[in-house]
Amino acid sequence: MTGRLLGKSAIVVGAGQTPGETIGNGHATALLFAREGARVLCVDRVAERAEATAAEIIGAGGQAHARTADVSRAADCAAIVQAGLERWEAIDILVNNVGIGGGDAPAHRLEEDAWDRILAVNLKGMWMTIKAVLPHMRERGHGSIVNVSSLAGRAGGIQLAYEVSKAGVNRLTTSVATSNARHGIRCNAVAPGLMDTPMAVSGIAHASGRTTTEVREERDRRVPLGGKMGTAWDTAHAVLFLASDEASFITGAILPVDGGMGVRIG
Ligand SMILES: NC(=O)c1ccc[n+]([C@@H]2O[C@H](COP(=O)([O-])OP(=O)(O)OC[C@H]3O[C@@H](n4cnc5c(N)ncnc54)[C@H](O)[C@@H]3O)[C@@H](O)[C@H]2O)c1
Repeated sequence: MTGRLLGKSAIVVGAGQTPGETIGNGHATALLFAREGARVLCVDRVAERAEATAAEIIGAGGQAHARTADVSRAADCAAIVQAGLERWEAIDILVNNVGIGGGDAPAHRLEEDAWDRILAVNLKGMWMTIKAVLPHMRERGHGSIVNVSSLAGRAGGIQLAYEVSKAGVNRLTTSVATSNARHGIRCNAVAPGLMDTPMAVSGIAHASGRTTTEVREERDRRVPLGGKMGTAWDTAHAVLFLASDEASFITGAILPVDGGMGVRIG
């Protein structure tokens, strides 16, 4: 531990992960934050997932607490912030990692309920956790919010609702950054590209009837930098930087974590 978040209290929403062979973005972020000295409220819709991450942190000597919440419910978002304040009196960092994509499709095939569900969780949910934490951060004149967006917010074509939700996350990020800069609150986003997380690799393998090895090889081939997907640790380190005081003059940034995919021509 090098103490980059020493003394900070953080909420990581989506701190569990889809079960699988590798580690998820929010799970890795929560572990890394704790290693760097933060107290972490691990929030997830699935209780066992939040509890597993918190237990891992505590087992390694860190400070964590688990909380179950569904970000598509405003009352749950308010309760997350309340829980953080009751436990640690202050919230320095909010990480919004929740993102879903099941049932997505291109525009001509997408079902209305899938659109509604994906937008409610990925975009409205992020806004609601931010809305819940802002009064506290404004009162303190200090706070750092990091949203997990996606390269899909800029490019894609086959997952309409997910892409639109992540484009929305980008503008949510810049809008919150602008309207809260005077209050000492920073709001940034990371935009991962192809990452080797279970939600992506096992999820695609399951949906397409391929093995995880086949999906991994196909995704690796598409990445310019080293011909290999990133890992959740790449996402987590970018989130850590933006959340920490090292980024104290950075707000409204959308940081690509994509091995050069976003700037590739052709
Ligand atoms: N894996 C990739 O290739 C990739 C690429 C770009 C962006 N991302 C983004 O990274 C983030 C995390 O991805 P991951 O692959 O680690 O996923 P993951 O599914 O492993 O982790 C997300 C967690 O969020 C939880 N969650 C889902 N709905 C929730 C809700 N309504 N309320 C509270 N918690 C909820 C899940 O239970 C899960 O534990 C997402 O925002 C995703 O869009 C991932």
